[in-house]
Amino acid sequence: MNLEGHNVVVVGGSSGIGWAVAKAVLAKGAEVVLAARNHDKLEKARAELGAGARVRSVVADIGREADVARLLEEARQGSAAQTVHHVVVTAADPAYQPLPTFDIEGARRVIDSKLLGPFLVAKHAAGVLDPQGSMTFTSGIAFERPAPQGSMVAAANGGIVSLVRALAIELAPIRVNTLSPGWVDTPIWDRLAGDSKPARFAQMAERLPARRIGRPEELAHAAIFLMENTFTTGTVLHVDGGHRMA
Ligand SMILES: NC(=O)c1ccc[n+]([C@@H]2O[C@H](COP(=O)([O-])OP(=O)(O)OC[C@H]3O[C@@H](n4cnc5c(N)ncnc54)[C@H](OP(=O)(O)O)[C@@H]3O)[C@@H](O)[C@H]2O)c1
Repeated sequence: MNLEGHNVVVVGGSSGIGWAVAKAVLAKGAEVVLAARNHDKLEKARAELGAGARVRSVVADIGREADVARLLEEARQGSAAQTVHHVVVTAADPAYQPLPTFDIEGARRVIDSKLLGPFLVAKHAAGVLDPQGSMTFTSGIAFERPAPQGSMVAAANGGIVSLVRALAIELAPIRVNTLSPGWVDTPIWDRLAGDSKPARFAQMAERLPARRIGRPEELAHAAIFLMENTFTTGTVLHVDGGHRMA
């Protein structure tokens, strides 16, 4: 499948892996709708993509059903093609906390961004998506290699794997897949690790078969594969430098 002229919605497109997906999709001649919660970050991301009218942005929190419904409708109506061909969700609002004091609001934000949000996106995208189209969600290494204090992230990453398999059956012929990144150098790490980021990356790089941390473009490359390969559905595509074996 050629993405030329396709309309692609990227939820999480204002940062990290989502922004790299938007950039790669634009390079293929598609139009892109970036969605995230923070308006200023979205506008900055849109300007940095520099593709003029081929990039639109919609402020939306995918944990809220009304936002998701509006996002999909605006994405369809504003498109030259009057449809949506692919939806990619890379949103995450992670919380790492010890279980005894885990803040329930933080736990809910993980589920809203990584599991309930994708579910709502699927619910509202199913009716507007081109039948040849696809949905791509994002799991992560914590599914198979959980870390202490990462219980909710691990649960959400595992849940999305089961969700895409169920949706691939229910929504066929629309294809539904998930990416599963290992450690990738994005702004999420500036928030999670702060000043210890370089040391943590160096330690992890040493352990990984790939001997380095991933780059957002490498996940974007995989997302393009999942959009273009029309025989792939219900799949988890691991792009993790071999982390599952390390
Ligand atoms: N980077 C890694 O090492 C790594 C490893 C494993 C898995 N992953 C997964 O890969 C995905 C992308 O991560 P990343 O590193 O690119 O993160 P990132 O740079 O922090 O980007 C996250 C994006 O999601 C948006 N977002 C968060 N919550 C949202 C919500 N409720 N509704 C709509 N948008 C929301 C953020 O914008 P706003 O805050 O403005 O909404 C931002 O655009 C995530 O699912 C993450 O769990 C990443």
